[in-house]
Amino acid sequence: LGLPAIDPALEAELADSLEEVERRLRDDVTSEFGLVTDAARHLVDAGGKRFRPMLALLGAQFGDPARHGVVEAAVVVELTHLASLYHDDVMDDATLRRGAPSANVRFGNSVSILVGDFLFARAAARTAELGADAVLLQARTFERLVVGQVRETAGPGAGDPLEHYLAVLADKTGSLIATSGRLGALQAGASEQVADTLTRFGELIGVAFQLADDLLDVEAESQASGKAVGTDLREGVATLPVLWFRRVADPADPADARLAELLDGDLGDDARLAEAVALLRAHPAIEQARADLVRWSEDARAVLADLPDVPARAALEALCDAVVQRTG
Ligand code: FPP
Ligand code: MG
Ligand code: MG
Repeated sequence: LGLPAIDPALEAELADSLEEVERRLRDDVTSEFGLVTDAARHLVDAGGKRFRPMLALLGAQFGDPARHGVVEAAVVVELTHLASLYHDDVMDDATLRRGAPSANVRFGNSVSILVGDFLFARAAARTAELGADAVLLQARTFERLVVGQVRETAGPGAGDPLEHYLAVLADKTGSLIATSGRLGALQAGASEQVADTLTRFGELIGVAFQLADDLLDVEAESQASGKAVGTDLREGVATLPVLWFRRVADPADPADARLAELLDGDLGDDARLAEAVALLRAHPAIEQARADLVRWSEDARAVLADLPDVPARAALEALCDAVVQRTG
């Protein structure tokens, strides 16, 4: 996520801190067992947007960003995120992540699951250095990640599918993104009020971030997203574009009828999946989903008005645009 509107002094400071985060991440995932280190470094080395560390560092700007614990907060949230990705790629039967073969493909499911646990253990150890409040915050966040993932797996049942979907997004993605800004702010000694505002912001921009991710699953080519196209469709995860399609589909329209037939069937077949992706890309449901994304991002931006007018606030505003304009 490039942030064009960002203050140059802040940008330089963030770049330094992010470099420090990278060094710590690499150190924090080493084990005396080579396979554990190799498998744990696999995703660290593949890169990534470091969206959560960035939010932690921006949150810290509302206090003293040089305080001990700020960089650690940024590391903790990325380690937790990385841990969840190892598990997620097993559950989603993913093949590609961050432009590299996903860990489940490279190391197998068992090692991926265990390395996810290893990373979570390392995140927990780091969090302990930040004190009991941070441990509790991280534990509650972790719980929401897990519950969100279980609810996604279970599906909406008899409930409203859109409500279910948004609740899943808030838990599986909004929770950790909200915690990122909060933890960074608290470690920097910012006020509770600022921390609460950043939490509300994170919940909203986190949902927007996942809405964008779900749109990219349909819209983006693999080279841009670093993931396989249509993974959600193949796994039968009804994301916003599909939910909108279900709501507005016209059974008398041949393209709609064909897409409904494909979505109701098995998309494990590459040709059927490609056809479904092409039909969905051309469907107005995509525009509806994009309009929802813009709305969530704007709601997040509105929350920022409660923060003091410092360069970090402008950077968070720029982040709202970057989430909407995400291409990968
Ligand atoms: C990515 O979603 C997955 C998440 C945001 C959270 C996953 C949470 C867990 C697996 C439970 C937590 C487990 C541990 C050990 C922390 P996605 O599949 O929609 O996104 P993708 O396109 O990036 O795969
Ligand atoms: Mg996934
Ligand atoms: Mg998933």
